Amino acid sequence: MPIHNDFNWTEYAHHWRIAEGCTYLNHGSFGPSPLAVQEKRIEYQAELESQPMEFLIRRTPVLMAEAARSLAAFLNCDRGNVAFVPNATVAMNVVAKNIELRLGDEVLLTDHEYGAVVRIWGQACKDAGAKAVYARLPQPLTSQEGVIESIFSAATERTRVLVVSHITSPTAVILPVKEICSRARKLGILVVIDGPHAPAQIDVNLRSIDCDYYCASTHKWLCAPFGSGFLYVRSRYKQGLLPNIVSWGRSLQGDAPHWTDEFHWPGTFDPSVYAAVPSAIDFMKTIGLKRFREQTHALAQYARTRLLELTDREPLSEDSTDWYGSMVTVPFEPSEAPNLRPGEPHPLQTWLATEHRIEMPVVEWHQRWHVRVSCHMYNTPDQIDQLIELLNEWQRKVAK
Ligand SMILES: Cc1ncc(COP(=O)(O)O)c(C=O)c1O
Repeated sequence: MPIHNDFNWTEYAHHWRIAEGCTYLNHGSFGPSPLAVQEKRIEYQAELESQPMEFLIRRTPVLMAEAARSLAAFLNCDRGNVAFVPNATVAMNVVAKNIELRLGDEVLLTDHEYGAVVRIWGQACKDAGAKAVYARLPQPLTSQEGVIESIFSAATERTRVLVVSHITSPTAVILPVKEICSRARKLGILVVIDGPHAPAQIDVNLRSIDCDYYCASTHKWLCAPFGSGFLYVRSRYKQGLLPNIVSWGRSLQGDAPHWTDEFHWPGTFDPSVYAAVPSAIDFMKTIGLKRFREQTHALAQYARTRLLELTDREPLSEDSTDWYGSMVTVPFEPSEAPNLRPGEPHPLQTWLATEHRIEMPVVEWHQRWHVRVSCHMYNTPDQIDQLIELLNEWQRKVAK
């Protein structure tokens, strides 16, 4: 079923093996890999199991270097500036542990940041006697200048670090990180970008963004295996950067030293997740990044339109690819605010998953409930229609 009469919809679901009967609208939390990437990873695992010495000592350094080259080309940065880590959470912990905050320093974040990231910096501030400050972004989001002004009006001469998402988690909005970095640099503020939703969903050009640190997972929109992420570090901060797990800190076969040595041998591990990153990049390029972005944005836009019709609520941002890509969040108060334990899913999320096998997060943000719909190449307009029908049914059910 076409979204717009003029949209040339293509079916790509056969590239994935999503569980039979499941409607998976949560690529943003956990993005499954296409079969081509899974197969590549399994090939590497078979090599590891058949000759561990050969694979771990001699082949892994070569595969990791190739993977770094492929990833750096995808992100438009120097391959010497990226280290592989298991995910964005690990990358962010490394940055928070390596920036030496002083008593009275301030770390500036926005009110759209991811809960675990808020915790990481809360802990770093507590350890150093520094303070976490939250800039409240305008609501709704209509201008990039408004975002920048709201962030920098919360900065003071004590602000050392700014932590900002490239695409936010609860609200799924794209933030103007290049402009934010340029303004921060003039003020001498370090910028750490929390970017796991950005690679593939939108163009990530690290040379142009020019941040100090970029933390991301490639197991989201890029569709690399689970447990693959990266940390980008500006050249001047590379030397001496330490992971949270101390291991050998050098190559196991006497290669020339490199700062990534601290990260690329975290003790014995399964490198197949990183070795398969280039196959994910190749897969997305074969589909065509333009095609991927157009089709998934069209679907997210369709979901947004239908959700706003259903809820009659104000959207979080203007309707534009400047503000959202393949994932969209819409305010939705499905019932009286339920009294939930920390981490307990909203009853609507549980009902959709257990009764109807639809995976879609219902997220709390600013004490209000929202639904977040993620669209990848295996999703279809029919799935959005099915979701809307069920949300309608839920609304009738709770109104009784
Ligand atoms: C904005 C943001 N930052 C960080 C993370 C953590 O990513 P990971 O669980 O891959 O470490 C997420 C996960 O959804 C996120 O949405």
